[in-house]
Amino acid sequence: MKTITTSRRDFIKATIAGAGLAILPATMLSAMDKDPDTRVRLGFIGVGLRGQNHLELALMRNDVEVVAICDVQQKMIDSSKELIKKSGKPMPQVILEGPYGYKKLLENKNIDAVIIATPWEWHTVMCLDAMRAKKYVGCEVITGMTVEECWQLVHTSEQTGMPLMMLENVCYRRDVMAVLNMVRQNVLGEIIHLQGGYQHDLREVKFNDGKNPYGGGVEFGEKGFSEASWRTLHSVNRDGDLYPTHGIGPVAMMIDINRGNRFTELVSYSSKARGLHDYIVKKGGENHPNAKVNFKLGDVVTTMIKCANGETILLQHDTNLPRPYSIGFRVQGTKGIWMDVNNSIYVEGQSKEAHKWDVADEWLAKYDHPLWKKYGNDAAGAGHGGMDWFVLNAFIESVKGKTNTPQDVYDAVTWSAITPLSETSIRLGGETVDFPDFTQGQWMYRKNNFARNDSY
Ligand SMILES: NC(=O)c1ccc[n+]([C@@H]2O[C@H](COP(=O)([O-])OP(=O)(O)OC[C@H]3O[C@@H](n4cnc5c(N)ncnc54)[C@H](O)[C@@H]3O)[C@@H](O)[C@H]2O)c1
Repeated sequence: MKTITTSRRDFIKATIAGAGLAILPATMLSAMDKDPDTRVRLGFIGVGLRGQNHLELALMRNDVEVVAICDVQQKMIDSSKELIKKSGKPMPQVILEGPYGYKKLLENKNIDAVIIATPWEWHTVMCLDAMRAKKYVGCEVITGMTVEECWQLVHTSEQTGMPLMMLENVCYRRDVMAVLNMVRQNVLGEIIHLQGGYQHDLREVKFNDGKNPYGGGVEFGEKGFSEASWRTLHSVNRDGDLYPTHGIGPVAMMIDINRGNRFTELVSYSSKARGLHDYIVKKGGENHPNAKVNFKLGDVVTTMIKCANGETILLQHDTNLPRPYSIGFRVQGTKGIWMDVNNSIYVEGQSKEAHKWDVADEWLAKYDHPLWKKYGNDAAGAGHGGMDWFVLNAFIESVKGKTNTPQDVYDAVTWSAITPLSETSIRLGGETVDFPDFTQGQWMYRKNNFARNDSY
């Protein structure tokens, strides 16, 4: 066993101090008795489609040992076992013991960290139990369905000293990281307004034939498969921005949210709901039983957020209508503007022609983030254009280094809380609602260390 060096210890202390965590450093450092250079022993809670993506990437790493997997469906366990066999790695403990079988996984003292990739409504309870069991937690989006759940997650992370990272992969998208780099080098000037969202035609995800994940039928709930078995019910019962984190995470990092800046208030409006019903009628006929379902989720939900430092953010959730995929990023400052939908950028005095867009490619290449320069080849082939590799890598490296994670519990809940806050605003007819300060004042002291260099 290599011993931890003084410089490594100092680095950890500096990272924690720099992050200005409310988490007690001593608790966190003693929580894992593990050399930073040894392998991370990982447990998977939920090995559905997303869990299997993470599992596949974890199996490729020589610094990870998959110790246990847990799910409630035989089919998902079977396909995960196939992935493990193919990788040539040893078969881990397999737990298929009902909805609370994950507690058995958490009892395993040989597990350092867990990846949670279950339906949203399970995330909070699983994160809480995992932190109490002294595991590092990497939880899929979204983390906390109500403001109360968000507070529970913060308090439990602070009390146990265990980091919770929401695995928000879009923060690591190559163009997004290049723009983060530009923002930090003042290319766009002082940032004034940002946009993002989740604009993804999910009709073939919300409905399927119960056997395959995408389309082929208009079933959901008990008759649906994968996300159609749970996600669609959120569209039946809730009206709000149900999936804010892919849009908000990247822009929040660009303007130092929870690190010198914070969201102060939010207002949301929701359009009428037509897309899901129309799809059922078109694909299943008007006599299909699901044609009688009333969907509460408006087809386009628009949210405005105001920040302490004066920026505005516009977020859109748009998942029920025909449209090409786009997160719809816009980052606009006193000197210029980037928009992802047409891959365009304009920087006053530097763009080729006044008042005309440049194609963003040259700019993105020039400001390519050091992390992508270093690890672009490792990430090639990983999901979502490679960003999935980076988010898992950041989590694993944090566990190895016994440091806090670069996106931390405060980010997880701040980004996730947009959903319940937008539901409240819509329910109140477009009232402005105050945004809780989950850092409890620490946002004024914390420094933005996210992706400052090429380490992770
Ligand atoms: N970041 C991304 O790009 C991205 C992409 C897809 C999905 N996701 C997120 O990943 C999560 C999972 O989504 P998915 O697409 O894999 O859905 P899925 O339905 O394919 O997988 C969920 C899995 O959780 C299992 N499960 C349910 N209850 C459980 C319990 N009590 N204990 C153990 N396992 C349980 C299910 O059997 C299923 O295998 C969601 O939060 C989703 O939003 C993120």
